[in-house]
Amino acid sequence: MLLKRTHTCGELSAKNEGANVVLNGWVNTRRDLGGVIFIDLRDRYGLTQVVFSPQDNEQAHIIADQLRTEFVIGVKGVVKMRDEININPNLKTGEIEVRVDELVIYSKANTPPFEIKDDLATNEDIRMKYRYLDLRRPLMQKNLMLRSDVYRITRNYFYENDFAEVETPVLMRSTPEGARDYLVPSRVNPGRFYALPQSPQIYKQTLMISGMDRYFQIVKCFRDEDLRADRQPEFTQIDVEMSFADEESVYSMAEGLMKHIIEGTSDKKVTVPFPRMTYKDAINTYGSDKPDTRFDLKFVNFSDIVAKSEFRVFSKTVADGGSVIGFVVPELGSLGRGVMDRLTKTARDEFGAGGLIYIKNNEDEVYSSVSKFVSEETTLKMVEKSGANKGDLILILAGPKNTVFTQLGDLRLHMGREYNLINEDELSLLWVTDFPLLEYDDEDGRYYAMHHPFTSPNPDDIPKMDSDPGNVRARAYDIVMNGSEIGGGSIRIHDSEMQQRMFGLLGVDEKEAQEKFGFLLDAFKYGAPPHGGIAFGLDRIVMLLSGARSLRDVIAFPKNQKAQSPMDSCPDEVASSQLDELYIQLKPIIKG
Ligand code: AMO
Repeated sequence: MLLKRTHTCGELSAKNEGANVVLNGWVNTRRDLGGVIFIDLRDRYGLTQVVFSPQDNEQAHIIADQLRTEFVIGVKGVVKMRDEININPNLKTGEIEVRVDELVIYSKANTPPFEIKDDLATNEDIRMKYRYLDLRRPLMQKNLMLRSDVYRITRNYFYENDFAEVETPVLMRSTPEGARDYLVPSRVNPGRFYALPQSPQIYKQTLMISGMDRYFQIVKCFRDEDLRADRQPEFTQIDVEMSFADEESVYSMAEGLMKHIIEGTSDKKVTVPFPRMTYKDAINTYGSDKPDTRFDLKFVNFSDIVAKSEFRVFSKTVADGGSVIGFVVPELGSLGRGVMDRLTKTARDEFGAGGLIYIKNNEDEVYSSVSKFVSEETTLKMVEKSGANKGDLILILAGPKNTVFTQLGDLRLHMGREYNLINEDELSLLWVTDFPLLEYDDEDGRYYAMHHPFTSPNPDDIPKMDSDPGNVRARAYDIVMNGSEIGGGSIRIHDSEMQQRMFGLLGVDEKEAQEKFGFLLDAFKYGAPPHGGIAFGLDRIVMLLSGARSLRDVIAFPKNQKAQSPMDSCPDEVASSQLDELYIQLKPIIKG
């Protein structure tokens, strides 16, 4: 029998005193006091204390004795005020309790493998195996509700701004976005495979050529890449494309969306437009193309001062075209030798630096870790250029340009986190612009598209496309929040010749381009509007807004670090008959 609920477990208050109510939910906790049974009943909305006393109803009290945590029940009773001393101001329903006179047990429950509570130290694979229990925890429910709010706000925003939501295929031909594809065999086309989309990039561009004008989609994307806390093999994008649009059109649309999402889900205020920083400045100032600008520690370049230094590490680095760079950490000039040794080890082992050089600009002495090799004059010049105050610490790395900036960027983040220089309540949003069009891969000896091959080069740099392709800027941008890349996009090529030229730079010859993208090259010949767009990482946005440390905490059924789902044990082997149908024969797996 179902006792149909009149209220949820999160809504009764003093206003309801005396009302006859029915609640449904899970037994969160049980306490027995002087023959009276107190249950905290839980559902998605909150907790309500329900009380079984032999005086209220003897029958219900007898049945209640069987209740254990996670039993699912329905109760009917009367809302009563709690005694003054039992009022719980931390609970929405903390002023009242429900005195029960009818109880139905809908289902019993085994003892759960972990407690259903927020501060849990349980191994994550156990949580994932029993995900249905994990998701009963209020924190996880809050995260999923936040996610649901983000869907709603996103859809409303785009509908209000004339965007059309269009679904694109999940079975497609592979799009080169840089990661490996997940492949799906086709039974009716033996030997042929679909790929799951790494993104709907090609489809959304095709929709622009089709005249759909403004498109968005909340869409699953699939990438078979190494997993990290902020990467899942299956993740969700808010994908957007706009016709007759330039960078400014995309920026203001994206800023409006972020403002709606953040202000609609938190007390934070968002100021638009967001600051912009070129890729070059981001690397030179923060050593990262996704700088966390909630704290300073900006880079200072010492290369000119130390170019002629007697210290070979400095002078040789500069002579070889490298850089000597550093940053000032305020008020840490007093750090002891042991701490500095550990920091040097971290810089070496974790960030790949050759070594760490430091200057402590203290009141009584300017101490340099390389004073034996570097003159006092040079050291003082470095202090002056750095702008350090008395009591500050200067950390310095020397190395080749392509590595030393990232290493110092990693060290900067490490210092920010380790010494609590980051204000966790602050939101920093910015655009990183003017990315290079191409990235050279030394191992493969060829260029790759830094964003993707459909990104338009900066018109000012087109003359350099053949002579100096490495220095061509792209009309590409990323949106960065608190040091995380939460979105990326570009203004696209909309001309078949330019697209062909781009493929040429990437070493895709005409035949291959025709085979793989012939339809797009052809489509460009039938009237393509100038267009551009962006895709946001929805999981990352929700993760940052919720304060979660991993995407796994904001996805209902995520994959673990091995790309597996412990709850439904996938991926799994399949019956040989299934493989036969697909004409697939497995090679022996050689574990190495
Ligand atoms: P991009 O590859 O930059 O661009 O992806 C857009 C955003 O998606 C998020 N993201 C991920 N989130 C979780 N797990 C992953 N494995 C993962 N990979 C990416 C990031 C990223 O900024 N088609 C282009 C967009 C465009 O040009 O319009 C694209 O997919 O937050």
